[in-house]
Amino acid sequence: MKKRVAILISGRGSNMMALVEAARAPDYPAEMAIVISSRPDAPGLAWAKAQGLAAVAIDHKAHATREAFDEAIHAALTNAGVELVALAGFMRIQSAAFVRRWIGRQLNIHPSLLPLFKGLHPQQQALDAGVRISGCTVHFVTEEMDAGPIIAQAAVPVLPDDDADTLAARILVAEHRLYPHALRLVATGDATMDGNRAILKSMVNQTDPLYSPALPGTSKGRHTSG
Ligand code: GRF
Repeated sequence: MKKRVAILISGRGSNMMALVEAARAPDYPAEMAIVISSRPDAPGLAWAKAQGLAAVAIDHKAHATREAFDEAIHAALTNAGVELVALAGFMRIQSAAFVRRWIGRQLNIHPSLLPLFKGLHPQQQALDAGVRISGCTVHFVTEEMDAGPIIAQAAVPVLPDDDADTLAARILVAEHRLYPHALRLVATGDATMDGNRAILKSMVNQTDPLYSPALPGTSKGRHTSG
């Protein structure tokens, strides 16, 4: 049985699109049951509706408190028979009660190698810190923002001429591959939350380091010859 997944968005929705595309594969272990946007004018919401997906706006501005907004989201998730929640550019902080209700069943993607560069503008934070490698992280959602157990990460080089936009674009390409991969792991039970760790089973692990800048005589920054 495929797991029923909700995708929560607030904007562009490119990670949502990557998840929807991935779920079109017959052997993908999850189906996208509903898209919920916190903003009625989110471009991602229009895209989801055009795809014929169940897609609704739950406007945070129409709710007096965070708790009331979260209650409306929870009701929509329950009505849609949702088992897993994927946050994809969802720009609302959730109440502790909501997080606890969905603990171990809610994922988020963040465009940095956590625990570095939590919060807003992580690409600019990476540039300001001068790191040569950054990337993205999919993690279980806990009460502390961007601090939950890490399920999967992808690394990309930071180039000398990067600005926040070029780095964000490079990371986004990795996000669109990483998020469907991580959701698959959770949907199959290959990744589970256990306290402050995500437990992985039966993974294929790659062992090549990513060098940035690249080693001399290599074009990919990968050193593979022992
Ligand atoms: C992504 O960079 C994601 O990592 C972050 O917000 C951005 C959302 O982009 N949480 P999109 O709406 O998925 O295109």
